[in-house]
Amino acid sequence: AAEGVAPPKPVAAGDAKEPVAISVDEVAALLRASKSVIIVPGYGMAVAQAQHPTRAIVDILRRHGTQVRFAIHPVAGRLPGHMNVLLAEANVPYDIVLEMDEINQDFASTDAVLVLGANDIVNPSALEDPSSPIAGMPVLRAWDAKNVVVFKRGKGAGYAGIDNPLFVKPVTKMCYGDAKKSVDAILRALEALDEEGAKRAPEIRAPV
Ligand code: TAP
Repeated sequence: AAEGVAPPKPVAAGDAKEPVAISVDEVAALLRASKSVIIVPGYGMAVAQAQHPTRAIVDILRRHGTQVRFAIHPVAGRLPGHMNVLLAEANVPYDIVLEMDEINQDFASTDAVLVLGANDIVNPSALEDPSSPIAGMPVLRAWDAKNVVVFKRGKGAGYAGIDNPLFVKPVTKMCYGDAKKSVDAILRALEALDEEGAKRAPEIRAPV
């Protein structure tokens, strides 16, 4: 090993899995390849004020024919209706903003889920671990989807202060950073993909 670099620790059976990171360009490519997307907003979206670029991403995806919906947990954020207010402020159409009970069964048939600064409300421990402090709390079943991308800055816990096994599920990747900066970068990447597509297929543009 190089000087000053510790050799890798042997991985013992039962060691905790590490979360896998994903880049903003990879998230843009995933979104472009997805036919159905659910966005789960949480307290971190409010902190970052990421709702405006998120709406812009939703517009682009919908123009491409992708089904995009928001899943709202009753205690997402820190105030009743917190997420609904922020999404309304960003002019997200009401008919794609669904309550937990209306959408929870649809994760299983969804290509990509964006967990945007949410944590406790997508914690599978609530259902899988009877000893968890949040055991029995209804949660959004994000992990049932084909792909899950979690936006958060680092290893910060949610309000309940507990680990979240969603972050190490095989379907999950972590997009680290401030949610607004990440979503802004994904928006630019999607716009760049559109420009490339337009250059490659000029014949499908409307006649001037
Ligand atoms: P939380 O579980 O609090 O998780 C928020 C996550 O956002 C954290 O994991 C944090 O991780 C991330 N985050 C913070 N700032 C960010 C930023 N700038 N960019 C990206 N990510 C950021 O949120 P939730 O899932 O919405 O759950 C709400 C919790 O609040 C529940 O436990 C609920 O019971 C409780 N609560 C709700 C209410 C109401 S009425 N809504 C009232 C009181 C309490 P990093 O630090 O790693 O970024």
